[in-house]
Amino acid sequence: MRGSPDPTLSIQSKRLSIQGSETPTTKPHKPLVVGIDLGTTYSAVAYVDDRGQPHTIINSEGDLTTPSAALIENQEVTIGKLALKAQITLPGNVATFAKRDIGKPTLSHPVDGRSVAPEVIESLILGRLKRDAETKLGRPITQAVITVPAYFNEPKRRSTIRAAELAGLDVLAIINEPTAAAIAYGIEKHSEILGPQTVLIYDLGGGTFDVSMVKVDHSNITVVATDGNAMLGGIDWDRCLVKWLDDQFAQTCKFRPSEVETGAAWLMQEATELKHALTSRTEVKIRLTFQSSTLITTITRSVFEDLTAHLLDRTRFTVRKLMKDSATQWEQIDQVILVGGSTRLPQVAEMITALTGMEPNLSISADEAIAHGAALYASTIPSRAAANQTGEPESGRLVISDVNAHNLGVLGIDLETRLSCNYVMIQRNTPIPVKQTTRFQTLRDDQRSVAVEIVEGGDSRGRYGTHIGKCVLGPLPAHLPAGTPVDVTFRYDRDGLMQVEARLPATGQQASIQIERHSTSVPSETVDPSDPEWSIL
Ligand SMILES: Nc1ncnc2c1ncn2[C@@H]1O[C@H](COP(=O)(O)OP(=O)(O)OP(=O)(O)O)[C@@H](O)[C@H]1O
Ligand SMILES: [Mg+2]
Repeated sequence: MRGSPDPTLSIQSKRLSIQGSETPTTKPHKPLVVGIDLGTTYSAVAYVDDRGQPHTIINSEGDLTTPSAALIENQEVTIGKLALKAQITLPGNVATFAKRDIGKPTLSHPVDGRSVAPEVIESLILGRLKRDAETKLGRPITQAVITVPAYFNEPKRRSTIRAAELAGLDVLAIINEPTAAAIAYGIEKHSEILGPQTVLIYDLGGGTFDVSMVKVDHSNITVVATDGNAMLGGIDWDRCLVKWLDDQFAQTCKFRPSEVETGAAWLMQEATELKHALTSRTEVKIRLTFQSSTLITTITRSVFEDLTAHLLDRTRFTVRKLMKDSATQWEQIDQVILVGGSTRLPQVAEMITALTGMEPNLSISADEAIAHGAALYASTIPSRAAANQTGEPESGRLVISDVNAHNLGVLGIDLETRLSCNYVMIQRNTPIPVKQTTRFQTLRDDQRSVAVEIVEGGDSRGRYGTHIGKCVLGPLPAHLPAGTPVDVTFRYDRDGLMQVEARLPATGQQASIQIERHSTSVPSETVDPSDPEWSIL
């Protein structure tokens, strides 16, 4: 992340003061850093006022959240509610759930006949959020703190930052969604919390699921452990109902709406509405007409819960795994805090109560907490930067300690088995900052270079991991014997900046690379273990 935002701030205030001299009645504003919750289905923007209170910025349609949907038709782009509605009439022109595809080269479906990069759709959404916020607050907004699921990997984080840059936003920090929720809880509910608490944040949104264990002591937020699933959220519950509705049509009307061009989008909208209705009622009567066929039936909440039990089970499994991995007993947890729109499903609170013996805490806004937390974090950035420059201790009110969600390792060859292996340098859930040095060795006589392949996640053989960078040391001196030591150091700092260094102690030769979460220079392909270059040790 950017070390100090100050140079940008001073240029901006100069520009503003020039404008101010042309229109003497306009008072120059202090640049404002907003917090953005860029969601799979809905997004929200918040700012912190002069009294330190976070507020959600109402969009141009008067809503707290904006649908993360884009309609692209004849080069014209519409974001939000209208785009969502247009799904039925123009399904091939609407992009939804782009966050699910972020980090990949293209969206899973073409839009307006073309394949589009998910970060382009995300940038269009961010652009609309930025313009709406500027209109509402009457000042330019060029800097933001953006939240991402804790379980997002490196390419997904980088693509999110790239999307913000395309939208004209300078990303001062990327913070994890459950961490943002914990900040909102710690600050907004401070007067109600007696002393330090250990809380579990269960965040089930539209497309992603995160669970984090966090120690909250007012403005001291320490993440202990995190886990999740970047491909599990409300849309998976919707898809179960889509299938059920489609089957009902097939049985009673002898045709499937899903097989008609506009049917899939229509079914999805009806399924989402039906799901919401089943949150407030235990039984819902259905009367749906599609292309002159009418389906009349009834669904109960218990049938819906049976249809989706496997999804809820996956969240329960992840919560239990987190508790087990962190060797924590339920007696040590003070609160289970629910965030994300999908936690309105009654089955979520019931499962949490059955699992933990505690009533879940619903005191922070499921829709706004994450944007509020991001805005609160953003509001402390100028004081952090000033503190860094003066060398004084950090004067910002918030002290955040996070963990890395995935293992970070080096790909190599196991000397005994001669098979590929993923040597984990930094275990998942290690508190950041962290530094780790490990001694490896060259594989062959007269090896002239060493390639340190850095991998995030993956199994012990390095499969299914994500390649996040490569540090090449060389050319090495001729005639080095096999087994010459190579020291590899991983340094991971608080701002998500990772430095990898490879050093040959025999000669003092060294090479290093920096992996920045806002850098787009490092390719983000999936690891190919058949690449002959990754042959150290
Ligand atoms: N009353 C309700 N009952 C059930 N589900 C609901 C209700 N209200 C909203 N949802 C669901 O909540 C989800 C949206 O929640 P939220 O806005 O927190 O997600 P998001 O931020 O878009 O996604 P993510 O955080 O996963 O990227 C949608 O799937 C929506 O259908
Ligand atoms: Mg969300």
